[in-house]
Amino acid sequence: MKISLRAKLIISFLAVIIICGLVAIFVAMRVIGTGIIGQAQDKVRIDLNTARHIYQDEIQEVKALVRLSAQRFFVKDALLEKDIQTLKTELEKIRKRESLDMLTLTDQNGQVIVRARDSSVSGDNQAHDELVSRALSGRKVIGATVILSREQLVKEGRGVAEQAYIKFIPTPKAKPSLETEQTSAMCIKAAAPVFGYDGSLIGVLYGGNLLNRNYKIVDKVKEIVYQGVKYKGKDIGTATIFQGDLRISTNVKAQDGSRAIGTRVSEEVRKQVLVKGLPWIGRAFVVNNWYIAAYEPVKDIKGKIIGILYVGILEEKFIDMRNRAIEMFLGITLAGMIIALIVSSFLASGVLQPIKHLIFASKQWAKGNLEYRVKTTRKDEIAELSETFNFMASSLKERDDKLKEYTSQQIMKSERLATLGQLAAGVAHEINNPLGAILMYTHLALEDLEQKDILHENLEKAAAEASRCKDIVKGLLDFARQTEPKVEESDVNEALERTLAVVENQALFQNVKISKVICPSLPKVLMDVSQMQQVFTNIVLNAAEAIEGKGELTVATRMAPDNEYIEIEFTDTGCGIPPDNLEKIFDPFFTTKEVGHGTGLGLAVSHGIIAKHRGTIEVKSEQGKGTSFIIRLPLKPKED
Ligand SMILES: Nc1ncnc2c1ncn2[C@@H]1O[C@H](COP(=O)(O)OP(=O)(O)OP(=O)(O)O)[C@@H](O)[C@H]1O
Ligand SMILES: [Mg+2]
Repeated sequence: MKISLRAKLIISFLAVIIICGLVAIFVAMRVIGTGIIGQAQDKVRIDLNTARHIYQDEIQEVKALVRLSAQRFFVKDALLEKDIQTLKTELEKIRKRESLDMLTLTDQNGQVIVRARDSSVSGDNQAHDELVSRALSGRKVIGATVILSREQLVKEGRGVAEQAYIKFIPTPKAKPSLETEQTSAMCIKAAAPVFGYDGSLIGVLYGGNLLNRNYKIVDKVKEIVYQGVKYKGKDIGTATIFQGDLRISTNVKAQDGSRAIGTRVSEEVRKQVLVKGLPWIGRAFVVNNWYIAAYEPVKDIKGKIIGILYVGILEEKFIDMRNRAIEMFLGITLAGMIIALIVSSFLASGVLQPIKHLIFASKQWAKGNLEYRVKTTRKDEIAELSETFNFMASSLKERDDKLKEYTSQQIMKSERLATLGQLAAGVAHEINNPLGAILMYTHLALEDLEQKDILHENLEKAAAEASRCKDIVKGLLDFARQTEPKVEESDVNEALERTLAVVENQALFQNVKISKVICPSLPKVLMDVSQMQQVFTNIVLNAAEAIEGKGELTVATRMAPDNEYIEIEFTDTGCGIPPDNLEKIFDPFFTTKEVGHGTGLGLAVSHGIIAKHRGTIEVKSEQGKGTSFIIRLPLKPKED
């Protein structure tokens, strides 16, 4: 599947953006989530402090009420005079006015003199009661939370035990319990000493309020701390007082909308708060909803844990806040991603446009339109690349032009040689027969003539000139020969040795020192040995002719550096070739020798033979110093 560079770039950008976005979303969700929930927990911790103060205030209020009542003159007077009727009437008035659940007077020994709520029960001793005993011994008012047994409650008056009675409601997460009801009660109670006019202790007045089914404290907490605010129809904040793990006073609502009295705290919270005596703050499923909740133990006067004070804020509100914050963040991140995508797409186009131009330019050049140039308006790496491409196109064009010129020269040269060859062949053919006839008749005439005849000498000269003509004609025919060389795998070194052996003894080579630099491992090549020997002969004869006086001819064979050709080099220390003539030496009939001494066909014929072997012949020369001819023959003949 071919994926465009643009798509790849955009996919890469997208991948980076998505990964960054997801990481940001994940981190933000954690931070926002823990931040908001953390804040809620801080708030609920503060709310619990406030609730504790309200609870303490309630104790103080009961304390103050009992203390003030104990100081009333009628209490002292009636107590001193044992006026039970007055005590009962007046104390019951106070109890009702101050909405106390109980108000009881004892003598200085703790024996009950009168109970405001039910005067029929008296005479029992309350000195065993912790608060009464402390008030008696310490002679000062004392208040605390206490647990009162059903027996005690029954004594205190009609309806008190009934108010305290609570039936357990099964609660899923609570500690399993065999008990099914609560008959005792948790109570805020205060006891104050009653002094006579002489300052002696004459009795103790104690009074208090049940917390069971008494919603004064919890509703006050809800009112003061949460101002009764509702969220989606539910109270945002709730408060509860537990007796042990049982809900005895609460504004948490059950399913039917009534207060969830009788349900119990979860086992987890029970262990932490009731058993270990530590506060518990966290998420809690309270009756029907999740709350961010705080619990702390409630202790009696001896420090024994007897209950729990709870406040909780509806978690739903904070979850919604958190979700809204996350939604906003998601929106912003998504918008950012879209913007980044658009920007990246523009950037990709910006990078790809010039590359497209380059591709277009390359196609133009491939088609041969080397004039085409890439336009660059920018100043960056791509612009640099475009300039390099343009430079490359210029260089290609230059080389192309040179190649064209060289090829056309070569074509002209070959055409010229071909025309000359055809002409020469035609002329040679036409001249050959009459020349044969001239020679034949001259020889016939010579046979008929006496040696001393004056004509004999002239006729002999005519025959010599005619045979020279035959040589020229033979050369011309060689040059123009159309026949293919008869090639066979042959050793170039051997052909060279044979050629040199033939020429070495000639007079021409008397003053020529022949040096050989032969490569012994030269591979065999496909060649026509006799034609190649003719080439070698032509070249070494030319060299010997070029050496005036003493000189040296070096013959070397070797492999070409590219291992595709073998090279045969002939270097002489002769007169050299003037630059003007270098171009012409392979032309037929080009000779610098005197008339009658050279035909000018030697190199032309040699060139033809080498070309037929698909080789090359090259000349290098320096006037006055010497000349070297390099023949290159291919190791593998090219396929036609
Ligand atoms: N080694 C050389 N040193 C100097 N000049 C040379 C050399 N070889 C060839 N030439 C020049 O090239 C010319 C052409 O050579 P070519 O062999 O074709 O003809 P030629 O030697 O003149 O005549 P022919 O070979 O027919 O006797 C020579 O006349 C000579 O001027
Ligand atoms: Mg020659």
